[in-house]
Amino acid sequence: MDASRDTISELLLGWYDRHARALPWRAPPGTAAPEPYRVWLSEVMLQQTTVAAVKDYFAAFTARWPKVTDLAAAADEEVMAAWAGLGYYARARNLLACARAVAARGGTFPDSEDELRALPGLGAYTAAAVAAIAFGRRAVVVDANVERVVSRLFALEEPLPGSRPTIRALADTITPDARAGDFAQAMMDLGATVCTSRAPRCLLCPLAEPCKARAQGEPERLPVKAAKKAKPTRKGRAFWIERDDHVWLVRRPGKGMLGGMRALPDDGWSARGDGSGEGPVAGPWDNAGRVAHVFTHFALELSLAVHLGASAQPEGEGEWWPLDRIDEAGLPTLFAKAARLALAEAA
Ligand code: ADE
Repeated sequence: MDASRDTISELLLGWYDRHARALPWRAPPGTAAPEPYRVWLSEVMLQQTTVAAVKDYFAAFTARWPKVTDLAAAADEEVMAAWAGLGYYARARNLLACARAVAARGGTFPDSEDELRALPGLGAYTAAAVAAIAFGRRAVVVDANVERVVSRLFALEEPLPGSRPTIRALADTITPDARAGDFAQAMMDLGATVCTSRAPRCLLCPLAEPCKARAQGEPERLPVKAAKKAKPTRKGRAFWIERDDHVWLVRRPGKGMLGGMRALPDDGWSARGDGSGEGPVAGPWDNAGRVAHVFTHFALELSLAVHLGASAQPEGEGEWWPLDRIDEAGLPTLFAKAARLALAEAA
């Protein structure tokens, strides 16, 4: 049975009124929109990251920098360190650039999708999400949850990612003029809690009636996904150089993998190839074991070389960081894992 756009959005909004997840960055359904700063910050944090992982970071950021102008005035190193562990560090660099652009225009976010899209780091998804959720503008908001819901609702057989333009066009046909922010978040909640990848809970679904994939009997088969390229495994070495209860830390170059983050020195591994094996001092090196880490485009096997009681100053820029404050260094997860290994070795 074909349901009209109005029926689908009414069914979904009625469900959202009863079942919306209570989230720290969210206003309850039908109430005044939250501050744009909080909507924007949460949407940037939620890209490729789960709600559970984001909650503590959102609380920490908003406690420390309550307004966008506070964040704009923060030092780069502080924001990068506060982001440590959340991953996709380009987001943190763009976050700061965007906060500063908003501060430069008087501290208020623009309220249209087009103007939001022009801010640093705001892609199509984030601009649409902020326009809809913070400003009540009608915008078509499509994330991975929405892709799944729409693919099933319309029984789309075309595989992702090629089907994205079709999904967007179909999402457009069911997006209402009013309550666009609630509608977007209802689609996300439905995807996260009911229309899940595996074992969707169709008995609880407000869109079960109009859902074509459910009518065909195998909703979990959709969306079809094009085969993924196998990820290459790269090998690298990281170096733990210790002297007088301090460890040598460097800052990674501004752009590129983990750009701008504090780190252990390493041998230059990258997505494109293995590292050279060479460290910033001559050694001798003890082998402290290996850390495995998976990035978006490759897997890394990082072996950790340890040199205690260093006498020579390592090559290049860096700082001797006190071991008893290692938790405050803001190491990204890969290097935090390596530090844990080195510290366990020494203990
Ligand atoms: N994922 C990304 N943004 C979200 C939001 N506003 N609500 C729930 N899940 C989300």
